[in-house]
Amino acid sequence: MAKVAQSSELKAAFEKHRGQTEEHVTRLEGVFEAIGKKPVGKTCAAIMGITEEGAEIMEEYNGSPSLDAGLLAAAQAVEHYEISRYGTLRTDAAVWQSRVPC
Ligand SMILES: [Fe+2]
Repeated sequence: MAKVAQSSELKAAFEKHRGQTEEHVTRLEGVFEAIGKKPVGKTCAAIMGITEEGAEIMEEYNGSPSLDAGLLAAAQAVEHYEISRYGTLRTDAAVWQSRVPC
């Protein structure tokens, strides 16, 4: 999406986010290493659908002044999905942690 974004600010935001995501992956790999587990990837049907929609937006709005708005909407859809899942995982981890005997 950074490659096709028209606004330099949006391009920069996408590139910054990519760097942050790579940092998150590195952190997660460290967590798995610390607990002696191997991280395993799993395809997420919801994210696949959202990214497919983003690809459609890039094609349909190519050259249109509305392209950046569409790209931003697609990116926000992914982020909101991530937030809902990470929030649940964080809460679940806290519940499990509270059950561990001292
Ligand atoms: Fe993200």
